[in-house]
Amino acid sequence: MDKFYWAPSILWTIRDTGTLIINGEEYSESLSGLFPRFYFLTAKGVTLSQLLSEFQGEDIMAVRKFINTLLDKKVLVNGIQDLFDLFSSQTLLFSQYNPYTGALVYSAEVKREIEEQALRREIVEADYILSLDDVTLQNRYEIERCSTRSFNMEKTVSFHQLSALLAILRERENEGRRKYCYASGGGLYPIDFYIFVKKDRVESLTEGLYAYVPYSHELHFVSTISPDIEDSHYFDNRNIFRQSAFSIYFVFNAAAAMPKYGGLACMLGLLDCGAAMHALNIRSLECGLGSCSIGEMNFHKISRYFKLDVNQKYLHCMEFGLSKA
Ligand SMILES: Cc1cc2nc3c(=O)[nH]c(=O)nc-3n(C[C@H](O)[C@H](O)[C@H](O)COP(=O)(O)O)c2cc1C
Repeated sequence: MDKFYWAPSILWTIRDTGTLIINGEEYSESLSGLFPRFYFLTAKGVTLSQLLSEFQGEDIMAVRKFINTLLDKKVLVNGIQDLFDLFSSQTLLFSQYNPYTGALVYSAEVKREIEEQALRREIVEADYILSLDDVTLQNRYEIERCSTRSFNMEKTVSFHQLSALLAILRERENEGRRKYCYASGGGLYPIDFYIFVKKDRVESLTEGLYAYVPYSHELHFVSTISPDIEDSHYFDNRNIFRQSAFSIYFVFNAAAAMPKYGGLACMLGLLDCGAAMHALNIRSLECGLGSCSIGEMNFHKISRYFKLDVNQKYLHCMEFGLSKA
């Protein structure tokens, strides 16, 4: 547990001028001399004391400070990377195919263009095409499924409504087998669900953060969250958060699935997360609630309240509240 690794998605280089660049940031030229040895040692995993002892002849205070900086910036890690950090490295690889590099992707016009090319993309130049039967969907909740961004703040969500919503995540027994309402790779269900309940918004529940335990259908109190939680949301989503009664956070628990699947478990975990998210989206409507997924937030601003261990990584968040209609 005391080995540290160079986070595989983080790139480094030394410019012709001798400047060391790690993850796009400049470091003192005097540190360039540590490379590539520093990288090779950390790429295969090393304890911090071993690492320091490898650079005995150098300015040891400077090396120690450098290591601390790399730990702070999660360049050196002692567990799996945040999945967001892992994927952010893909932006560069896509850049040569991105017609919108440098464009204002949040301007209404560019947003419209991106949506149009996304929703009307040609998947294949087909030799021939078959039109399918035009079947009308019957399930009301599939037809009415939607994201809800404004909620009724006058009335409280009943304890029963919250229980009924979370029932979609609970473990049941079916013919002697453990059964869930959504599928999961290998049946390992590695997503941990945390519920943040706001003050006076859910009947009988004190404001705070709870962990949901699917095999007992219980909420276990984790901590009281301070009001700065709103800062963890980006501007566009703050109004949704202000109005919601409670939030559900999805956290990948590597210890549940990585022993079986290794790195593949991260991808399978994301798929599980999507399945659970959709189940909650549909279920919320059945329970007289509405929900909205939040794709990006500053989770690190509130992560301390969750008391996560090194193997738990934040994936996703959804806001819930009473529908207005
Ligand atoms: C992974 C994911 C992330 C999303 N992130 C946001 C978000 O940050 N803010 C928001 O208002 N809606 C968000 N949404 C909701 C989508 O914008 C919405 O599903 C889409 O526009 C289709 O609209 P509908 O769900 O009402 O049919 C997200 C949805 C998904 C599945």
